[in-house]
Amino acid sequence: MNPERSEQLKRFYITTPIYYVNDIPHIGHAYTTIAADVLARYKRLCGYRVFFLTGTDEHGQKVELTAREGGETPKELADRVVERFKGLWKRLNISNDGFIRTTDTVHKEGVRKFFETVYNKGDIYLGEYEDWYCTPCETFWTETQLKDGKCPDCSRPTEKLKEESYFFRMSKYQERLLKHIENNPDFIQPPSRRNEIISFIKGGLKDISVSRTTFDWGISLPMDPDHVIYVWFDALINYITGIGYGDDEEGFKRFWPADIHIIGKDILRFHAVYWPAFLMSADLPLPKKVFGHGWWTVDGKKMSKSLRNVVEPNMLIEEYGADALRYFLLREIPFGVDGDFSRKAMIGRINSDLANDLGNLLSRSVTMVRKYFNGIVPAPYEKGDFDEGLINMSARVITGIDPLIDGLAFNKVLISIWDIVRGANKYIDDTAPWTYAKKDDGKKRLSTIIYNIMESLRIITLFIYPFMPETAEELWRQLGIEEELSGQNINEVKEWGKFKPGTQIRPGRHLFPRID
Ligand code: MSP
Repeated sequence: MNPERSEQLKRFYITTPIYYVNDIPHIGHAYTTIAADVLARYKRLCGYRVFFLTGTDEHGQKVELTAREGGETPKELADRVVERFKGLWKRLNISNDGFIRTTDTVHKEGVRKFFETVYNKGDIYLGEYEDWYCTPCETFWTETQLKDGKCPDCSRPTEKLKEESYFFRMSKYQERLLKHIENNPDFIQPPSRRNEIISFIKGGLKDISVSRTTFDWGISLPMDPDHVIYVWFDALINYITGIGYGDDEEGFKRFWPADIHIIGKDILRFHAVYWPAFLMSADLPLPKKVFGHGWWTVDGKKMSKSLRNVVEPNMLIEEYGADALRYFLLREIPFGVDGDFSRKAMIGRINSDLANDLGNLLSRSVTMVRKYFNGIVPAPYEKGDFDEGLINMSARVITGIDPLIDGLAFNKVLISIWDIVRGANKYIDDTAPWTYAKKDDGKKRLSTIIYNIMESLRIITLFIYPFMPETAEELWRQLGIEEELSGQNINEVKEWGKFKPGTQIRPGRHLFPRID
């Protein structure tokens, strides 16, 4: 793209959490990243200049422990596991523009600069920490917050810490934060999560410990090298170092503040309380939105190594393909709520929505273009029954998609795209094109019917592209459209009637064979 034009485009900055390298990727991680990818791809289709950042969270006690248990150094562990994440994102066709590792030099320097800024502001002081720590969650707790002596979030044992520590004056930001959340109803989504955070803040914010001295695996403090920076303080800053903070100010200013941080509900407090307070202290603008999605269980149970029920995305991709997994995860449950994963449900969706509805629509349609028009898309001539119904429905669906995407209602977007898929199949049944093919004077009406079916497919392909990029590319190829799919501006081509008559289709493989 011409650099000047790209400078003028509206910008959109979207992030995923950075993933801990003590664990290998599972469908929970894939879920967050796929959702962010769909949004990134959709915004690009709408003409935005998008920056989509993901990465890995490599410091902290948990990573250090896991490495030690495996007889590796933490960096060796990180270097190994980071490849698992990168490999999975490639197989899932994740279109991230940046990948940040917290062990990257630019990140470490950015974190030190940020820490110094907050320190110079007077928001950091030296004190002593004496409370409880949950290493799996990398979270500090007070005695009263514990549940039966265990971590209130994950129910695992905590350890008592008594160490010298630097503290961040969180309490100072309590009122400003509340005001910000109240004045910006969209800041924390979905609304149920917003209420949780409001009551948490109203319960009183305590200053938080932001450094540790009992282990080494982290970024040392600029002013006191015996301390390493608390892993969450380090990790959150990835959202700005990943676009140039402390290194490329222009790049940083181009994209900050983020339009959205997509995260799981378990880490909302860090993103909706800690992170905004840190940013306020550093005099930087706050992200526009933080969305906490629900959690996947497996056959009704929490996914965990000890239950041996962790669902490995690579296996599902091998068996069903990346697009089927992307589709299933976003179609099956609303993004804000919890859901249960089962192979049975996944196969059900593949067979009904993908093989039956979408796959059949394509193969019926191309077969008819080939049979009745020698593989060339005809021009519409003669209007008739059912045309208006199909065209109006498609227009209605299209107008509804933008707001649904902005609300991250991915399942509703897919349901409404499938209204067109099913509507087009029904249009074929209702209009029965084969009857016109047999009539001497049926050609004009037949042309219109076939055109309308192909036009529905063109629109469907545009809108499923963010969700199922490989499938959409294959559909697009079979439709015979020359222009690149990823280069389309959806606002210019989403209206009915843009399919060029005379296009030579290129029938190809069947999409999504049925699974028994
Ligand atoms: N490293 C921190 C994030 C730092 S961001 C500045 C972290 N990493 S994580 O690897 O443990 O989790 C990353 C994301 O995966 C979180 O958003 C979490 O909600 C998500 N999931 C982990 N298990 C999940 C499910 N079972 N279901 C859905 N999402 C889940 O937290």
